[in-house]
Amino acid sequence: MSVGTAPANPFTQDVKQPLPDPTTLVIFGAGGDLASRKLIPAVYNLLLAGLLPDPMRVIGVARRHDVHSFRKTAREAIEAHSRTGFDEDAWKALEPRLEIVQGDFGNPELFKTLGERLERDDARLGITQHVFYLAVAPRFFAQIAKALAAVGLGSGADPPTRLMIEKPFGHDLESALRLNAEVASAFDESQVFRLDHYLGKETVQNLQVLRFANGILEPIWNRRYVDHVQITVAEDLGIGHRGAYYDSAGALRDVIQNHVMQLVALVGMEAPVRFDADTIRDEKVKLLHSVRRYKPEEVPDFVVRGQYGGGWVGGEEVRAYLDEEDVADGSRTETYVAMRVEVDNWRWAGTPFYVRTGKRLPRRMTEIAVQFRPVPHLPFAGSDIGDVEPNEMVLSVQPDEGASLRLVAKVPGQTMSVRPVQMEFKYGTSFLGDSPEAYERLLHDALRGDATLFTRADEVEAEWRIVQPVLDVRQSGPGPSVYEAGSQGPPEADELLAVRGRSWRQV
Ligand code: BG6
Repeated sequence: MSVGTAPANPFTQDVKQPLPDPTTLVIFGAGGDLASRKLIPAVYNLLLAGLLPDPMRVIGVARRHDVHSFRKTAREAIEAHSRTGFDEDAWKALEPRLEIVQGDFGNPELFKTLGERLERDDARLGITQHVFYLAVAPRFFAQIAKALAAVGLGSGADPPTRLMIEKPFGHDLESALRLNAEVASAFDESQVFRLDHYLGKETVQNLQVLRFANGILEPIWNRRYVDHVQITVAEDLGIGHRGAYYDSAGALRDVIQNHVMQLVALVGMEAPVRFDADTIRDEKVKLLHSVRRYKPEEVPDFVVRGQYGGGWVGGEEVRAYLDEEDVADGSRTETYVAMRVEVDNWRWAGTPFYVRTGKRLPRRMTEIAVQFRPVPHLPFAGSDIGDVEPNEMVLSVQPDEGASLRLVAKVPGQTMSVRPVQMEFKYGTSFLGDSPEAYERLLHDALRGDATLFTRADEVEAEWRIVQPVLDVRQSGPGPSVYEAGSQGPPEADELLAVRGRSWRQV
């Protein structure tokens, strides 16, 4: 296998992509879980796809690693998590590019050492940009950003620098505003790449193509033709070993504030005039600003919170949330949220977006279902034709990536009876080859300086403004209702939709 050039398979690489400029990628928290599960495998797969800059080096910053242990961990990470498996030749090409700077993020000396190392390599290797990835606990975000700026690696740095930050960006509106202000004191907004990995998913990107490259959808994509929208991010998994984080976050902060609000924005936004970062993000922010902010007394009517009890998922008995590791006794943290989102603008007024997310539901499933209004009049009077379900377009984000449109068709035979049928497009059959992992796409975009799929400061703030009223009453209001693991979630969620025959799609 040749490494560093595009693979021969014409189906996976039919568009030759421009290579990013020669880069040093610095990963803070290189010894952590995120680096192992996502980042290092993403770097490796970009190398295999011939998409890494040349030269490119990766400097891990970690407290406990030296270069040997870092390379060993990186190799194990690729063996365990790479989408494409492990190839010895490719690893040999990557291994010498991995280096380490050892130290503590709290120590200014670390940043001086890092700065000197970068300067030395710039000259020696012809590196022309630096990308800093903060794969660290959120409490270090601002500290690291400021420490980088203090050694000349922040705004105005030469060569240019970028900062990639993982969610969570704050734990409420106030802390998000503070974090954005602190980061802004060190880096220009154009240098900051806030990562919401949902935006790197193929199907999420395809939403824009479906909407804005197909003329037939736009005329019906509005309150006149759409009865309501359902967005579901369901997981069969529980919280695993993340109890300490999750118990202080909950589903509202963990998934609704970011991934779900991004999906709402992409489904609801107006067509951008250009496909560039700021034009698209302007449209998304405009949509997020049109989402109604509930008054405290309205929240119980529009939001349902749940917490999983024990039960069975995938044939396995699982314990209740309250019995999970690192969860506080009697915790009121929600693992499920269903919410009615009202978009108060001309396109969507009166057409609700029902969104929900939950852990320990029957299976992993993320989808967007656009349910159209029923026909105004059925001309088949007198015949017992069966149920005429309204048309529905479903974009399946995962696991069976694709899109389908439900139509009503006549059942062949002498009588006039009807049944719903599906027109389907599936990624697996329409396109050969695997989709890249979200992290591959996003890392590559950040290396190229394309911020289209990253969340801007005002966008994050707009997302928090929507969930903040719910967070506020969460402290004082009733606790979440318990649902059985493996069920569809709390029954109260059904009541949210129970008007005009609406009901949730089955998970
Ligand atoms: C993460 C959340 O952001 O998204 C997790 O912290 C959640 O709790 C995950 O499981 C879901 O992502 P995906 O890609 O598996 O749908």
